[in-house]
Amino acid sequence: MKTSGGSDAAKRRAGESAAEAVADGDVVGLGTGSTAAHAIRRLGDRVDAGLEVRGVATSFASRELAAECGIPPLDLDEAVGPDAPGIDVAIDGADQVAVGRGDDPTAGPLIKGGGAAHACEKLVDAAADRFLVVADPSKEAPVLDRSVPVEVLPAGRTAVAEAVRAADGEPALRRAERKDGPVVTDNGNLVLDCAFGEIEDPDALATTLATTPGVVEHGIFVGLADEVHVGTETGVRIVTR
Ligand code: A5P
Repeated sequence: MKTSGGSDAAKRRAGESAAEAVADGDVVGLGTGSTAAHAIRRLGDRVDAGLEVRGVATSFASRELAAECGIPPLDLDEAVGPDAPGIDVAIDGADQVAVGRGDDPTAGPLIKGGGAAHACEKLVDAAADRFLVVADPSKEAPVLDRSVPVEVLPAGRTAVAEAVRAADGEPALRRAERKDGPVVTDNGNLVLDCAFGEIEDPDALATTLATTPGVVEHGIFVGLADEVHVGTETGVRIVTR
C-alpha cells in the first residue's frame, strides 16, 4: 500500500525545504515515509552543524532514523501537557493531497497511512503548532480518491469491515509483503485499506470512520496542514493554507 510514483529528487527537495523551516530550539514532529525521511536527514545535517532541536517520532522507523541522524529524541508524553514545551512544527508526508478543482491553491485534506503509521502521525501532526506536509506532484489530486487506511483493533476487523461496506466502501485487509498474514502496526493492530471512490466530503467520512467502534485511527487528515511543500524536478512549490 506504500505510494509509488514521484522521483526521489522531488521528494528530497520537499523534505529539505521543510527542514529549513525549523528554527533553533524547536521541538519537531518527525513524520514517517520516504519524503519525511529526507527532512529527517537534512535536520540531522543541521544538528551536526549546531542546530539545537528535539524530535518527536511518529513511528518505529522515524525514531530509528532520527537516532541514526543524531537528532535528540523527546517522547510525545514529554512534549505535550501543562508544563511541556509543546511541538513547534511537524513535518510529515502524505499519500494524497487534495488541491481542489479550479485555481484555488488550498492546502487541502490529506490521506495518510501508506506506511501504517497514521495513528501516531495524527497525534503528533495535530499537536504541532505548524504542520508542514512534504510531497511530490504525484500526490496531488483534485479530490481525494485513494484507499483510506483504517487501523483497527484485531478483534474488530470484521465489524469495522461491515461498517465500511455500509458506508459504501470496500475494505481490504492489508497483507504483509515479507511475512505471511497481515501487516501489524507499531501499536499491534491491523489495517483495512478502504476504497470509497472520490471522497467529496472528507470531513463527513472522517467522522463516520472515527465514530465506528473498533477503529483506532483512520488516515483522513482534515484541517491540519498549514503548508504543503511540493518538490518538483526543478524546485519547491509551497502552498500555504
Ligand atoms: C506513513 O504511514 C504515511 O502516512 C506516509 O507519510 C505516507 O505514506 C507518505 O509516504 P512517502 O513519503 O514514502 O510517499
